[in-house]
Amino acid sequence: METDFLVIGSGIAGLTYALKVSQKYPDKKVIVITKATADETNTKYAQGGVAVVNDLENDSFQKHIEDTLIAGDGLCNRHVVEIVVKEGPERVNEIIDWGAKFDKEPDGDYKLGKEGGHSAFRILHHKDITGREIERALLLSIKGRSNIELVNYCFVVDIITQHHLGYLVTKSTPDVECYGVYALNLRTNAIEKILARRTLIATGGNGQVYRTTTNPSIATGDGVAMVYRAKGRIENMEFIQFHPTALYEPGVRGHAFLITEAVRGDGGVLRNKTGEAFMEKYDSRKDLAPRDIVARAIDSEMKRTGTEHVYLDCRHMGKEKFVEHFPNIYEKCLSIGVDITKDMIPVAPAAHYSCGGIKTDEWGRTSIKNLSACGECASTGLHGANRLASNSLLEAIVFAHRCFIDAADHINSITFNKNIPDWNARGTSEPKEMILITQSLKELQLVMSDYVGIVRNDIRLQRAMRRIDLLWEETEQLYQTSNLSPQLLELRNMISVGYLIVKSASFRKESRGLHYNTDYPGKSELVQNVVL
Ligand code: FAD
Ligand code: SIN
Repeated sequence: METDFLVIGSGIAGLTYALKVSQKYPDKKVIVITKATADETNTKYAQGGVAVVNDLENDSFQKHIEDTLIAGDGLCNRHVVEIVVKEGPERVNEIIDWGAKFDKEPDGDYKLGKEGGHSAFRILHHKDITGREIERALLLSIKGRSNIELVNYCFVVDIITQHHLGYLVTKSTPDVECYGVYALNLRTNAIEKILARRTLIATGGNGQVYRTTTNPSIATGDGVAMVYRAKGRIENMEFIQFHPTALYEPGVRGHAFLITEAVRGDGGVLRNKTGEAFMEKYDSRKDLAPRDIVARAIDSEMKRTGTEHVYLDCRHMGKEKFVEHFPNIYEKCLSIGVDITKDMIPVAPAAHYSCGGIKTDEWGRTSIKNLSACGECASTGLHGANRLASNSLLEAIVFAHRCFIDAADHINSITFNKNIPDWNARGTSEPKEMILITQSLKELQLVMSDYVGIVRNDIRLQRAMRRIDLLWEETEQLYQTSNLSPQLLELRNMISVGYLIVKSASFRKESRGLHYNTDYPGKSELVQNVVL
């Protein structure tokens, strides 16, 4: 296959970019690849909404910029923060023009929500299923574009660079170039070579590296792992955001249902098992402090009281108001026997968002030529050490636009490289025991949750690294000798991501934002990113 624009990922980042390039170049071919069904993305599960300055009477760009910088705890790139906040409204209007609907007041103004760390009501939402609505609108718009081909169930294995032409490529090789990708077609089990002039990685997050996460099963950090293997730059992987309030369901591991922070924005109160509203002990902003603070406070209460969860109390909020804004949460809670008008909701933190990722510049360019990245897999400088709630969807659309501008500037000067060999699968066979892959995955998730969670220390990080090294060795052996399967590829990628998180966490000898190490409880005077 050959294409002008190759897009890996069909979430908000990939689809926004694809729509833009297809519109600008109706005669050029755009392929969007996704490893599952098109809508199975982190985007689909977004609840709270899109943070954007809308109400200029009560809000301002300056306030949104300051809130983002405060949450980021000294590590945001101020220039990038200003770009995202100021370009945000225009980008949001574009997705509204493509059909995404946000809730409105009876007078026609948008209903604005509030979440932790925000000093104003500024979050556009579609009830508590904002992501589902955005994904719906974008996929519908894609359907109308004849030059976009959407390929489901196609698992990108690796990006193609000079390495595949037989050259030695290292971190210090200048001008590493991307020529396309090798991808496993999950319908035929064949590995296909897809050549592209420009490739965009929009592969989303990596929550599945942990035992409990708000992320669906596709969130395995594939893009970050691929770029790392291709000797591209990866940044700030230690900053894994744990959402304070995932629904606690005994026995449920893996994908946990989220209770959006907007519930606390509307008045929900966190309580411990004795009923104490504990957040006032931890921060003057109480339940609406930034996420790192709330998640650590919950972790500390759970450890202190010996429980596996705390509670979110919504009983005082009124059924009508609650159901109007959060119908999906209301129904989900009822389905497990929790009536929010009478019962408190059991909640616990869960891995939610990767603030670091593939290092990009302000145009979404990675360190590899002709390869851009945007969305959750990218590290643009917006989030610093902790992402402000609902800034992720905003970042994805602002940077999808910037990647599009950059690609459009260069596309006509890029030629296909016709010398790329086909994938070589010689010497591989069906693995004897697929169960080994599942077992290694469980081990990895356990290691990451137990040793590299909300609170870390050096001994825990060392333990994690030793165990990950062993898992890596065993999985590489399997990879070299086995026919490829999505399970094996995801395991391999998640081990790389786990390694990058632990390595970055070990380099950061301080506590900042989402990275809290009890051996270094204070902040270092040297404010810097960890780049691997
Ligand atoms: P995704 O939407 O995750 O899409 C990734 C795509 O990449 C998928 O199509 C996947 O199949 C594809 N892919 C991955 N690997 C491969 C591969 N190897 N080969 C082929 N395809 C591949 N953010 C907010 O701003 N506001 C919110 O309210 C909000 N709520 C959230 C609630 C939940 C429960 C979760 C999980 C996240 C939430 N977030 C929110 C975060 C936000 O939803 C995500 O960061 C964002 O949607 C990521 O979009 P994306 O386009 O980068 O990736
Ligand atoms: C939420 O709705 O609480 C999630 C928002 C986000 O992750 O930005």
